[in-house]
Amino acid sequence: MTSIPRQLLITGGAGFIAGNLVHHWASVHPGDRIVVLDALTYAGNRATIAPLIDADRISFVQGDIGDRALVDGLLAENAITHVAHLAAESHVDRSITGPGAFLATNVNGTFTLLEAFRAHWLAAGSPTDWRFLHVSTDEVFGSLEPGDPPFNETTPYSPRSPYAASKAASDHLARAWQHTYGLPVLVSNCSNNYGPYHFPEKLIPLTLINILLGRPIPVYGDGSNVRDWLYVEDHCRALERVLLGGEPGRTYCIGGCNEVANIDLVQILCSLMDELAPDLPVRPSRELIRFVADRPGHDRRYAIDATRIREELGWEPQVTVQEGLRRTVSWYLAHPGWWQPLLSADYANYLESQYAARLA
Ligand code: NAD
Ligand code: TYD
Repeated sequence: MTSIPRQLLITGGAGFIAGNLVHHWASVHPGDRIVVLDALTYAGNRATIAPLIDADRISFVQGDIGDRALVDGLLAENAITHVAHLAAESHVDRSITGPGAFLATNVNGTFTLLEAFRAHWLAAGSPTDWRFLHVSTDEVFGSLEPGDPPFNETTPYSPRSPYAASKAASDHLARAWQHTYGLPVLVSNCSNNYGPYHFPEKLIPLTLINILLGRPIPVYGDGSNVRDWLYVEDHCRALERVLLGGEPGRTYCIGGCNEVANIDLVQILCSLMDELAPDLPVRPSRELIRFVADRPGHDRRYAIDATRIREELGWEPQVTVQEGLRRTVSWYLAHPGWWQPLLSADYANYLESQYAARLA
């Protein structure tokens, strides 16, 4: 473990996972200072972390990770010792219709951040206890067929969507900066997260919001694609272990050991909503399910073998998918004040562009 107190930069901290990470870190490391850098794209929501922001411990800066002057200033002024890099364009469907933003943020933005941190680290005399954690996805490994062994740290890269390709490129940059310059970089590759503060374009929050509004639930293809679901708090605990206990230059695969086919997941969500939501426009909710045209290039299955992080860093997921989904449904029911403001004209246009033809 590294020395405390730390000055931590969390990029993308107004987004889903990094927002949860800010909450987690603030509660378990109250002596650390946190600076959140987030561009507040459509996916960023200041409300996710607003109650935590205070001048002494947690500050928020709206800005782009690709803005070198801004990042240089933040690193120096706050004497940053640790970076948790999660800012990204993160949605596969958007990467299919508009890949440019994915290259700009995920590839060039990561490059800028690595270069800025390298200069800052060199200026401080290359401290051995500083860290840069680059957070990535299992989607860089490609797609599994039923029965294939799960991905692990030695699985060759085979990205198949523009999103996955951009994340793969950024992973290679992060590892190259460690190998070439000795920068203390760690990489994690994680399976599908779910939980509070998840933007309603991804399958789980989209399904919940659509049920609450009585709108169709689009299931791509025949619904047999499989994802390995990880409760976001478990992921945050894993990121904490990697950042504080991981070995620079090493990669850690993080998974939930919870493989579920999409249609089964949607059916579970429908049952939970029928049980827990007092007023629903359509009941039973499963009547809203619609099988729609498949996502182009849709990866069949993702699964992670998390042996390394369990054996080396003592991490295991603690929340079963049954428990995590129940918590997630309860959270969305209890927090309309968080998600209702997201249902903007831009959001309606996005849904229209994604689903009008598919649902027709
Ligand atoms: P998200 O889309 O919810 O949040 C991304 C955040 O980054 C937003 O707040 C956005 O405003 C910010 N951002 C985007 N471009 C930026 C830029 N140029 N400069 C500064 N901020 C910018 O994403 P998420 O689902 O929380 O994912 C976080 C990270 O974890 C990503 O790197 C993603 O690839 C990775 N990941 C996500 C999952 C998942 O299931 N969601 C799984 C594995 C890995
Ligand atoms: P998503 O939440 O977009 O995550 P990812 O593509 O990164 O895995 O999608 C999860 C799965 O759900 C994926 O197989 C695509 C599918 N899906 C649907 O069937 N309908 C939807 O409306 C969405 C958004 C996704």
